[in-house]
Amino acid sequence: MKVPAAGETLGAEEVARLRAGMALQMDHYGGGRLPFVCLQAKGLVQHMAALEGPDAGRVVEVLDASGGYASACLGAGHPRMQEALRDGLERTGYVTDELGSLERTLLLEGLFGPQGLWADRFPGSAYHASGRNSGSEGLELALRLVLESNFDRRRMAPKPERAERRTILAFEGAWHGWTQGLVSLLNRRHYRLGIPLPPVEGPAGLDVQFLPFGEFEHLETFFAEHGRKLAGVFVEPIQGDAGILVPPAGYLRRLAALCREHEVLLVADEVLTFAKTGRFFGMTDAEGPIPTDITVIGKSLGMGVVSTSMVIARRELSVRSSGAVSTSDLRPLTSAVLRSGIQYLSGEGLVERTGPLGEQLRAQLRKDVAQAFPEVFQEVRGLGYMNGIELTERAAGNLGKLRARLLDAGIFVEFMAGAGRRSRGLRYLFPAMRIAPPLIAGEADLQEMVARIQRGVRTFVESGS
Ligand SMILES: Cc1ncc(COP(=O)(O)O)c(C=O)c1O
Repeated sequence: MKVPAAGETLGAEEVARLRAGMALQMDHYGGGRLPFVCLQAKGLVQHMAALEGPDAGRVVEVLDASGGYASACLGAGHPRMQEALRDGLERTGYVTDELGSLERTLLLEGLFGPQGLWADRFPGSAYHASGRNSGSEGLELALRLVLESNFDRRRMAPKPERAERRTILAFEGAWHGWTQGLVSLLNRRHYRLGIPLPPVEGPAGLDVQFLPFGEFEHLETFFAEHGRKLAGVFVEPIQGDAGILVPPAGYLRRLAALCREHEVLLVADEVLTFAKTGRFFGMTDAEGPIPTDITVIGKSLGMGVVSTSMVIARRELSVRSSGAVSTSDLRPLTSAVLRSGIQYLSGEGLVERTGPLGEQLRAQLRKDVAQAFPEVFQEVRGLGYMNGIELTERAAGNLGKLRARLLDAGIFVEFMAGAGRRSRGLRYLFPAMRIAPPLIAGEADLQEMVARIQRGVRTFVESGS
């Protein structure tokens, strides 16, 4: 199929073919997928065509403020990635984790070796790493590491001194993935009902407790009362699906201190925050890195080119022999993409600049979007290139129409579910529009994104929302 230029229109037969192609993919949105198709993309620009309505087939140029669930940090078709893939294919081979690989060594040495990029936080003498295929798989491995740490492999029984530690602490509104082990860490009824959860009682039971995120007092009380029963804590440094919630200063460091004090493993889910908060890791504050026992990174790690995640854990944490072997644990080709991409991001300062540019972006979003359309938006939140604008209840009820108007205005954004109802009298959190552009977006791109969002929202409001 020849891809027409923006402004041209696809024939009815081509539209029907694309619609049929879309129907061949399982729909995980209960019929709510957007009736648009991406025909081709380069950098931040995607050529999309509507598949329904009076404009069906018309090709439009859309600016991407989403990065594909916040993963394509180098946009589409980046020359550095083309080179890394070509070179990786030509030279690196495909050995598994059963033996070493030169390319994997180069990657890990460059990150965790004595001069490594992340050695201040994760020195190789104290940490080791494993690659998984997705964020969810990374979190599954993290959960397994926590559970294994309470288990005596020689006796194949719980360690007597840790036998009471069967509780995991997670946070309301959390999203860690949708695989079986992780469902128990999601506290929304919608995700849990009808799905078997691990038993709470017995030596292998798993009890999960939830706290509202970012509330000091509840955290202190919980640890004082239940700290001895905790095996691990799972936390997103900035909650994503809950609606881009940034915790108050000092919260994450206090959480880490409480974990240490009570001998509880701290797991940071940095699948989404990786490379987006002005630093590579969201577990950072004015004092520097906040220590964790396990950190899981994903999404941008694969540069939008390979689907991968990495679990970085203290060396003493491991899984019983062959219990977590994976066909694609840091495949040499994946390692080549990661090494080249991370070198590029840090060489060009693309991660650091998201700090000040993100601040400007939020100021503009507050002024030109949230304050300009109070009937649609209520609050702008975020850090770096991880930003959210919470919708009003009324706009949240009309999300499909808002998204279509934004696409008409040439901008693609994604929406987060919002934490919804929270405990302890905290206010309900509605869905949030997420603006998490690829890191290649510069100042002018961000301004253009805000202008297009403004245009789309205006049409939405003027058409009676
Ligand atoms: C914080 C967080 N953890 C884990 C995941 C799961 O990652 P994946 O979709 O790669 O399985 C996501 C995905 O959105 C996420 O945002």
